[in-house]
Amino acid sequence: MAPYESHELRRGKYARLDAPEDDDLDTPTRFSSESNMTLEDLEEHDPLAFDSKIKRKKSAGDLKIRKASYRDAESAAPAPLERWKGSRAPGRCCCWLLTFIAAIVLILASGGIWAWKVSVPKDGLSPPWYPTPKGGTDKAWADSYTKAADMVKQMTLPEKVNITTGTGWSMDMCVGQTGRVARLKFPSLCLQDGPLGIRFADNITAFPAGITVGATWNKELMYLRGKAHGKEARLKGVNVLLGPAMGPLGRLPAGGRNWEGFGSDPVLQGIAAAQTIKGIQDEGVMATAKHYVGNEQEHFRQSWEWGLPNAISSNIDDRTLHEIYAWPFADSVKAGVTSVMCSYNQVNSSYACQNSRLLNGILKDELGFQGFVQSDWLAQRSGVASALAGLDMSMPGDGLRWAKGDSLWGPELTRSVLNGSVPIDRVDDMVTRIVASWYQVGQDKWDDQGPNFSSWTNDRVGKLHEGSPSDHAMGVVNQYVNAQGEGKDAHKNLVRRVAAEGTVLVKNEDKLLPLDRKGWKKSKKSKRRTKYRVGIFGEDARLPREGINHCSDQSCNEGTLASGWGSGAVKFSYLIEPLSAVRAAFDNATVYVTDWPENKLPSQKEVLEDQDLCIVFVNADSGEGYEHYGSIRGDRNDLNLQKGGDKLVQDVAKDCGKGMGDVVVVVHTVGPVILENFIDIVNVKAVIIANLPGTESGNAIVDVLFGDVNPSGRLPYTIAKNEDDYGPGSKIKYLPTPSDGLAPQQNFSEGLYIDYRHFDKQDITPRYEFGYGLSYTQFTLSSLLIKESGAKTSFPKPRPEGLTPPSYSTHLPDPKSALFPEGFHKVERYIYPWLDSLKGVKKHKSENLQPQSPLSDAGGGPGGNPDLYTTLLTVSASLANIGLLDGSTVVQLYISFPKNYTDNETGEAVDFPVRVLRGFEKVHVEAQKTDGQLVTFEVTRRDLSYWDVKRQNWVLPVGEFGITVGFSSRNLVLQGKW
Ligand code: BGC
Repeated sequence: MAPYESHELRRGKYARLDAPEDDDLDTPTRFSSESNMTLEDLEEHDPLAFDSKIKRKKSAGDLKIRKASYRDAESAAPAPLERWKGSRAPGRCCCWLLTFIAAIVLILASGGIWAWKVSVPKDGLSPPWYPTPKGGTDKAWADSYTKAADMVKQMTLPEKVNITTGTGWSMDMCVGQTGRVARLKFPSLCLQDGPLGIRFADNITAFPAGITVGATWNKELMYLRGKAHGKEARLKGVNVLLGPAMGPLGRLPAGGRNWEGFGSDPVLQGIAAAQTIKGIQDEGVMATAKHYVGNEQEHFRQSWEWGLPNAISSNIDDRTLHEIYAWPFADSVKAGVTSVMCSYNQVNSSYACQNSRLLNGILKDELGFQGFVQSDWLAQRSGVASALAGLDMSMPGDGLRWAKGDSLWGPELTRSVLNGSVPIDRVDDMVTRIVASWYQVGQDKWDDQGPNFSSWTNDRVGKLHEGSPSDHAMGVVNQYVNAQGEGKDAHKNLVRRVAAEGTVLVKNEDKLLPLDRKGWKKSKKSKRRTKYRVGIFGEDARLPREGINHCSDQSCNEGTLASGWGSGAVKFSYLIEPLSAVRAAFDNATVYVTDWPENKLPSQKEVLEDQDLCIVFVNADSGEGYEHYGSIRGDRNDLNLQKGGDKLVQDVAKDCGKGMGDVVVVVHTVGPVILENFIDIVNVKAVIIANLPGTESGNAIVDVLFGDVNPSGRLPYTIAKNEDDYGPGSKIKYLPTPSDGLAPQQNFSEGLYIDYRHFDKQDITPRYEFGYGLSYTQFTLSSLLIKESGAKTSFPKPRPEGLTPPSYSTHLPDPKSALFPEGFHKVERYIYPWLDSLKGVKKHKSENLQPQSPLSDAGGGPGGNPDLYTTLLTVSASLANIGLLDGSTVVQLYISFPKNYTDNETGEAVDFPVRVLRGFEKVHVEAQKTDGQLVTFEVTRRDLSYWDVKRQNWVLPVGEFGITVGFSSRNLVLQGKW
C-alpha cells in the first residue's frame, strides 16, 4: 500500500485509511511497550501478541531473520568467487559486477543493522508502573461500584470479555459498539463521535467547534453546549460520546486537530473540558476525555497510516507532562468523566494505549480515575501488554487491521485469562469500571433500545452488520429522530450564542464596527448617494457548490468553513452561510449589496470600485490525518490563509471604493493564522477571527457585525507576526529524520514554553496575544484584593486512603465453558468473546512480573490529592464598563512563580514561565456602570505549585508570587504579590 493512500471502505460509506495488507507487515515492528521489556520477554508474556497473531509472529520472525541475514551476507560473500575459480574464470567485468553487488549487499545490510539499532527504545524512557490500580476507591462513585460489583459477580468470563471489546468496525450501528450481556440486561454500548455533534447521524446539530467554545471563555456556555450535545446523544441512543478533546492541546499551531480542543493552554482546556463533561454527563451520557496524550500532530500519529510501521513517539519530560499535557485530563477526572481515550502515538517510546506509566501510574493511581480507558480506533497495538498496562476497552474491537474480525482481545483476552497471561482480576476491574460508569450516569434507567441511527447508510432499512461480507440481515436502522430541540429550546439558539461569543474582534479602527443596518452611520452620511453600497467577497461567504455534506467527514475546504474535518466533524442538517445572512441584515431601502463570493476577482473592477464597504471572507482549514484536502494531510502546511486569502484581501483593499472604501475581514479558521500581509493596510479597518462557528455561522457573524452581540470572544491562542516566532518546538514533523530509527521521534524539548509562555520567555511581540480581543465598549479594572485563605506550606497533606475496591473470586472457569455455544450462528468478522478451540489455553505458571509500584503522594482523590484543590488565595477585583454599550469581557488571572527560585534542599534552580493563566471569568456589565462589579477567583494549591520530578509531587515554591489580573496575557492592569 502506498503511503498516504486512502481507501474507500466499500462496506461503509465513508473513506478511511486502510490498515496494511499482510504483505505490508513484513517490515519489523517494535513490540515492547515498556522500554525495559525485550522482544523475548514480551513473547513470553504476551500470547495474544505472539502465539495467536500470525501477523505478529511473522513480524517477530522477521526481526530475527533480518539479524541473521546480515551475518549471512558477510560470511557468504566470497562463496560465489570460489565456485567460479574451480570452473570458468570470470571476466574482469564479471568481477567488478560481483564486487559491486557485494558492496550493495554490505551497504544494505549495515543500513539494516543501523536501523535496527537505532529503533531499539532507550531504556527507561517510559518507566513501568504495575499493577493496574483498581477502580472503586472514590466515595462519589461508591453506589455505582456496589451495583456494578453485584452485576459483575454474576458474569461468566466470556460475558465479561464481551463488555471489554468492540464488535468490530462497522459491525453494528455506531463507530464503536461493545458486546452485550442480555441475560443481565447490560446493553451493547454505542460509542459515537463527538466532539462537536453526533457524527454520521441525521437531524442533529453541528455545534461550534471546541476552539470556538474556548474562544468564548464563557464557562456557562461551555457547560450548556456540552449539555445540548449530551441531550442529542441521548435522543439518538448514544451511550458514550467521544468527546471532549483536550489533546492535541495546541503545542503546534499548525496541528491538524487543534480545533477540536479549546485552545493552547492547559487551564483553558481543563476548565472547558470539565464544563463540557459535566454538561454531557448531566444528560445521562458518558463523556470521553480524549486523546490521552501527546497526539499533537497528525503526521505519523498512527502505525501504518503514514506508511511507517510505528507511530510517532512524543517524548515529553515528566514535569511538562504534568503541568501541560496531563493537566486538562486531571480536570476531567475531577469533573467525574467516565471514560478516557488513549491516543495513537507513543509517549516516550511506549504506545499510549499500553503505556503503564501513563495509564496505571498517572491516570489511575495519581489522578484517581474511576472510569474506563478505551483505545482510540486501532490505537491498541498489543493484547496482554495493553491489558496489563491499564487499557479497559478495545475500540472498535479490531486488532491491528480494520474490519477483519481479528481482535487483540475478544477471544484472545478470554484465552489469555485462561492461560494465566492476564490475571482474572484485571478483567474484573476492566468490566467493573465500565459497568460502574454506566450506573454512574444513570443509564440503568434507559430502555435498551440501542442507537436509532446507522453510521453506514442514510436509508431507513439497512444491513444490521454492514462490515460483514456474508451476512445480509436487514432491519430498520434509521428512525430519523430529530434531536435538535424545538422552540426556545432549539439548539440552534445556543449554537448562535456560542458562535457569536466565540468570535474575536482583533482590529476595529475608527469604530467601523458595529455596522448600521441602514448603511451610512450618522457621522459619515454621504450626500452624494442615496444608498450605501456594500460588497461581499470571497468563497468563504457562500455555501459549497456541491452541497454542504459532499465531502466525507467534511474533508474539503469549499465554500464557507464552519468546522474542520475528520471524525470530529458531522453532517450539517443545514448551514447558514454568511452571504445570505449579511445580505438580509442590511436594510435594502438604504443599502445596496453586491457580492462576488469567489477568491478570484473579476477583471472588471466596478464590483469593487463602487463600494463604500467591502466585507471579505477568508479561511484556513485542517483536519484528521486519515483524510487530506489537496496537499493538506491533516496538519496545515503553514499558517497562512488558504486558497489565496491574503491576495484576495489585498486586492479588495486596493480597489474597494477606489482604495477609499472601508474593509472588514472575517477569518474562519482552525487555529492561528498569520495576518501580516494585510493587517496594517490602512483601509482594512476591522478584522474578525470567527473561528469555526458551526451551523449558524451566518447568523452569528451578523450578530457581531451589527452589534446585536457586543464581541467578547478572546483569542485561545497567540497570533504571531511570523510563523517562526512560535519557536523551534512549534513545527510539525512532516518527514522522519535519519536519527529517528524506525519510529519518528518528536522531542517536546521546549518543555513548558508553548504558545504565550514561549513569547513571554523570549520576549517576542506577537501580533495579538493569547487572551486578546476587543469590545464595542470599554472596561476598566481596579481594587485588586488578595486574601490568603490557606497556609503557604510546600507540600500537600498526605495522600488520604481511598475506599476498598470490590473483590471477586479468582477461580478460573473450566476452559470448555468459554467455547462457542453449540449451534451458535456466527456473523463473519464479528468479534465474539468465545473460543473456537482450546488451543493455547493451557495454564502456565504465572509469575509476579513486576513488584507493586509505589503509590503516588500526589494521588488520593479525583484529579489528584484532594489537598491540591484547597483554595489558598482568593483574588478579587472590581470591573466597570465606562463605555456606551452593554457588554461582556473576560477578566483573566495570571500568576508568576517566585523569581530565581532554587530548591532549598537540592540547591537546584527551577525555571518558571513568566506567567501562567490560572483563572478567568466572563462578566456582563451594563453600559456606564462605573460603580464596579466584583470579580472573584479562587486560587488552589495546585495553581501555585510546580511538579517536582525528583519528589514526584506538587511543590509550592517558597518566595514571592506575582498575582496579575487583566484583559489578556499582556494587558495585566492589576498587579499584586503574595
Ligand atoms: C479518532 C478519534 C475518534 C475515533 C472514532 C479516530 O480516528 O482519532 O478521535 O473518536 O476515530 O471515530
